[in-house]
Amino acid sequence: MPPFPKISLLPQSQDEPGWAKELRPFAYAYLEHRIYEQVGPHPCLAKCLGINDENALVLRRMANGSIQNYLLTHPRPDFATRAQWVVEIAHGMGHLHGAGVLWNDCSIFNTLVSDDGAHALICDFGSAVIWPAVACPRIDVAPPPYAVPLSHAFGSGNPWAPDLFALAGVALFLLSWQHPCAAVPGLDGWGNEEEYMERIAAHERSEFDKLDPKRFGEHFAQVVDRGFWLKHADGQQFARELEDALKHWKEAFSRGDLPDPDTMIREIPANVPDGG
Ligand SMILES: Nc1ncnc2c1ncn2[C@@H]1O[C@H](COP(=O)(O)OP(=O)(O)OP(=O)(O)O)[C@@H](O)[C@H]1O
Ligand SMILES: [Mg+2]
Repeated sequence: MPPFPKISLLPQSQDEPGWAKELRPFAYAYLEHRIYEQVGPHPCLAKCLGINDENALVLRRMANGSIQNYLLTHPRPDFATRAQWVVEIAHGMGHLHGAGVLWNDCSIFNTLVSDDGAHALICDFGSAVIWPAVACPRIDVAPPPYAVPLSHAFGSGNPWAPDLFALAGVALFLLSWQHPCAAVPGLDGWGNEEEYMERIAAHERSEFDKLDPKRFGEHFAQVVDRGFWLKHADGQQFARELEDALKHWKEAFSRGDLPDPDTMIREIPANVPDGG
């Protein structure tokens, strides 16, 4: 038996403003609460409401749930909306890094969608690390392909390596619907374990997917590539470059220099469970 059995709270009514995280030992709720306290509020972070009488962490409830959940239950948002989400995830991450916190679990499971569907808010700092002195990826949190290969992380000497790499994967997926993250359970690819394993093996060989600049513009192609190669000093720089790429893309798209990148994207099958 695990030393700390998980206990679920009774389901709350949708009208309640608070969302209580599944109950776990108080120390976990306390540590995650400490992270929210340390970094302070930000528009791109879930709003922390404190710790309740049951010792569970309480956040403001976001009715749309995670991006993953949203994508499986809604028509695909247009490219500009998904790109805006990516920019906001990066800004949320940048806010953490600015306060000396490594998120360590960046994924579409741990990013929420605003009520109007237009914005993304990051959450789940249960695996976060305060003031990392060295690159400290943990193999028990973000699953591959979000997980940065260890040799790649240590070779870079970049203390934010796990976050930057995972953000590149999230950006690649949300912008283009292509691997690696499409292979995560629930989003087109779980059925093909071989392909999934091949993506992970490719990462270990330092082969990362790319965006086609003719479809997404030079700026997006470059910033995602730089993300996989851990070239950004931190999430703040990554966020600035993504914001710049979106600005350039919008200009080029409105001039008719770039096609709609969504043409020829496959739909996500809607028969899959939510992730953790
Ligand atoms: N504020 C919120 N409002 C609505 N749904 C939420 C909210 N926060 C999280 N969720 C949903 O609950 C899921 C689980 O929450 P969270 O990611 O914090 O916990 P976890 O993955 O179980 O935790 P950990 O990684 O610490 O073990 C999320 O993936 C998301 O779908
Ligand atoms: Mg989670």
